Amino acid sequence: MSVCSVSLAFFSGWCFQLCPFVVAFQGNSTVKKVILNRPHMLNALTYEMLSQMIHKLKVYENDSKVRLVILKGTGRAFCTGGDVVALYNFMTAGHWSFGASFFKKFLNLEYLVATYKKPLVALTDGMVMGGGAGVSMLARFKIITENTVLAMPEAAIGSYVGETYLLSRLPGYLGEYLGLTGAQLDGAEIIACGLATHFVRSKDLQQLENALSEMATSETIEISQLISKFVGKPNLKQSSAINRLEIVNKCFSGETVEDILLALEKQIENGREEKWIVDAINSMKSSTPTGLKLFLRSVREGRRYNQEGCMLLEYAVICHVIRRTVSNDFYKGVNAKLLGKGKKPEWQPSKLELVEEEMVERCFGRVDEAEWEPLQLPPRSNLVQDNNMASKL
Ligand SMILES: *[C@@H]1O[C@H](CO)[C@@H](O)[C@H](O)[C@H]1NC(C)=O
Ligand SMILES: *[C@@H]1O[C@H](CO)[C@@H](O)[C@H](O)[C@H]1NC(C)=O
Repeated sequence: MSVCSVSLAFFSGWCFQLCPFVVAFQGNSTVKKVILNRPHMLNALTYEMLSQMIHKLKVYENDSKVRLVILKGTGRAFCTGGDVVALYNFMTAGHWSFGASFFKKFLNLEYLVATYKKPLVALTDGMVMGGGAGVSMLARFKIITENTVLAMPEAAIGSYVGETYLLSRLPGYLGEYLGLTGAQLDGAEIIACGLATHFVRSKDLQQLENALSEMATSETIEISQLISKFVGKPNLKQSSAINRLEIVNKCFSGETVEDILLALEKQIENGREEKWIVDAINSMKSSTPTGLKLFLRSVREGRRYNQEGCMLLEYAVICHVIRRTVSNDFYKGVNAKLLGKGKKPEWQPSKLELVEEEMVERCFGRVDEAEWEPLQLPPRSNLVQDNNMASKL
């Protein structure tokens, strides 16, 4: 881990001077580029990076000369979400509320991306994980390539799977499948399930970026037409789970995580020994039982809320997770899986049956601490308030 990420929350001013280019801001007066530039950390986002991005995106939004903003990453990842190791270090050395501030910032960035008033084009030519999916796939134009791989691996490391809004809007019960199993989608699959808007070959991406820079317009139709000229043909693998949506839906529509696991096992018993089913079962069995249940409830509830409502819900749940309201799995998982101390985390509760409904319920309510407040997102004219969720917290 770099010096940068360890010290951020404490010495953000100092870090800013040491590593000023973790996000690069380029472009000219009409087309701006926001470039995640922390390739050795797969562009995992720190608090400082989030702050810089939010600040600049607001400045661009407000600057009448700016027509278009391009969002991209350096290296083989677009973004692997938040820098969880740095977060773990702050919270174990200090207080869980550092984590709460971090997630508040993260959700604010995603919200800004989702409601951005100017065309935002995310060029995603690599790995996208966890919160990185929100930062890219909530943009107006989401361009992916054959190098794009998307996954939500949080449950495997003991954490809570977010991106409730995106996942709950996928076809059928695909969102449940992705969040519960951490399964990866490749570029062709991302397009097929409607997460991204355009598939462009990686070799053509630079040309597209140049063309967008030269066009410098805010007109959605013109931008769409331009991007269309670069669109390539994705090649959906025969073995893809997307080609088996019927079975995905049959298994992942189960009412509880236990039901879903049973349904998958039944497929195997009935002779359907497909790799994706075996992988799904193995992944669910080694992930945090508490995290799986929290995610399932979120994605189901999320279908009833808008973007803002989903974010309010996620913020409450993640605060309970990092505060250890019902389980310490986040800390155990990061320690074992990301810091390599101990091979297999011993989740507690250790089994799905031991995670009681009441425990899950508690994580969807207020955090019982005097200073805690529900997430407050700034009013943005292009999104309606969701009082439905807010009234519950
Ligand atoms: C946006 O522009 C207006 C008018 O130029 C200014 O008053 C306001 O402070 C700006 N806001 C931001 C976030 O830059
Ligand atoms: C911005 O850069 C693009 C591409 O290099 C160029 O076509 C355009 O004229 C530039 N705009 C300004 C205002 O400099």
